[in-house]
Amino acid sequence: MTLNDPKSPEAPEWWRHAVIYQVYPRSFADSDGDGIGDLPGITSRLPYLRDLGVDALWISPFYTSPQKDHGYDVADYRDIDPLFGTLEDADRLVATAHELGLKLIVDLVPNHTSDAHVWFQAALAAGPGSAERARYLFREGRGEDGSQPPNNWSSVFGGPAWTRVEDGQWYLHLFDSTQPDLDWRNPEVGDMFEDVLRFWLDRGVDGFRVDVAHGLVKEESLRDQVVDEGDTPASGEINPEAVSSMVERTMRDEPMWDQPEVHEVYRRWRTVLDSYEGDRMMVAEAWTQSAESMARFVRPDEMHQSFNFSWLLAPWSAEEFASVVTGTLEALSGVGASPTWVLSNHDVVRHVTRYGGGAVGLARARAATLAMLALPGSSYLYEGEELGLEQVDVEPEHRQDPSWFRTGEVGRDGCRVPVPWSGDAAPYGFGPGDAQPWLPQPDDWAPLTVAAQQADPDSTLAFYQKALAARRAFAETAGDEVELLDLGRDVLAFRRGPLTVVVNCGETPVTRPAGDVVASSGPVSDLLPVDTAVWLTTGD
Ligand code: BGC
Repeated sequence: MTLNDPKSPEAPEWWRHAVIYQVYPRSFADSDGDGIGDLPGITSRLPYLRDLGVDALWISPFYTSPQKDHGYDVADYRDIDPLFGTLEDADRLVATAHELGLKLIVDLVPNHTSDAHVWFQAALAAGPGSAERARYLFREGRGEDGSQPPNNWSSVFGGPAWTRVEDGQWYLHLFDSTQPDLDWRNPEVGDMFEDVLRFWLDRGVDGFRVDVAHGLVKEESLRDQVVDEGDTPASGEINPEAVSSMVERTMRDEPMWDQPEVHEVYRRWRTVLDSYEGDRMMVAEAWTQSAESMARFVRPDEMHQSFNFSWLLAPWSAEEFASVVTGTLEALSGVGASPTWVLSNHDVVRHVTRYGGGAVGLARARAATLAMLALPGSSYLYEGEELGLEQVDVEPEHRQDPSWFRTGEVGRDGCRVPVPWSGDAAPYGFGPGDAQPWLPQPDDWAPLTVAAQQADPDSTLAFYQKALAARRAFAETAGDEVELLDLGRDVLAFRRGPLTVVVNCGETPVTRPAGDVVASSGPVSDLLPVDTAVWLTTGD
């Protein structure tokens, strides 16, 4: 397995080897004591990210928004929501990141706007058949009086994907009813987003994370989806093994996902990015069904990267992990793109919890992270994973995820609880004084704060720091070839450049190969304990 040569002095292509840290701005750091994180808060914590050893940050949306989906419902793509600050704060954030040697990626939400966007308000006012409505997907209903939705599509957040307006027409929303889908077959939509891209590129951002990248264009017929869900049932409690039912709905072979025309959008954007100085990049959030469909988003004239969710979807299993690695590298080798790896983000159950929670979950999470960081390509980390945070069981009265309101499914709040920075009790230094954060933090987080873990050389934070420093020493030079080694069914083992990586996913300790230990996810001797990973150099 080998990928194209990633680097030349003329095209540094920083993203090919970067570790990129996702900031969910509501939950990272609050500078003004309103309980909600903000841009000055992020800026004040940039030295922490530099010291952690990441190369870049991706910030989830901070644009003007009614916050029905915490910013993934954008009312003005060219301004900052007052909750988060001002455009000057954004400029300061970009400049400070660059001074510290960090790249900065912003989140672009092109599939839908907020219903508070001027375009949608104009569409409502203008009425059926108007040019304003043609920017969205308004349709007549089915049935004699049009009282049935135009088709059977269900929203990713549960319930029907159509809402009826006063004059009787229906509009499509693949997510919440406050997030109307744009019609990407209408050229005005593409023109608007080109302006938005330029607006942020002009302000110096290094790239875009593209939300729902596989959903922009719908099959023109808007035919029924195959899986007819009716009213989506509620699912009850957190299922530690499931990633999320939302994710499951975005991965289907249905007429709203992964249409061939969507790639034309990214070819146009690539031309725009290439016309700017520096190495600007795009990464697709595309929950495609296979590594092959993921690879279509990163052909040479499209996106630079696409999130590879296959490890995140795999259970704790050496065989599964091995097939994720080979499947990913094989699919990408044909298009010359570099792989990406991700274990957690703001939409899924945190990986400590997915791997069983408690000491076992944490040990496995650290081991999987270490293995991921040894692979070619770039890794995406999600805020708080470096502290070993678990999914929080947020009480129903505090839940805010729109999918909870639509269906009663537990939703994603549990991975969005604000980061604990210091102190013995909530708000753990998240904001000034004792202003409580927008989601309550657990009572037992004192040992998990950044300050507590900085003082402990065996902490998860110290582990991330050491692993990232060790990675830095070889990531760009180790090459892209990965050779899987057979050390038994329960052991994931591979060689990359000078490194041999071994992960014990079984139930008994195994003898590890000889060599010098470069990094490990827990204590190791000549034996590699269960749920532990190690990097070795063998000197051959
Ligand atoms: C984002 C979600 C968001 C949805 C709608 C995604 O996939 O990551 O957080 O709710 O798109 O914008």
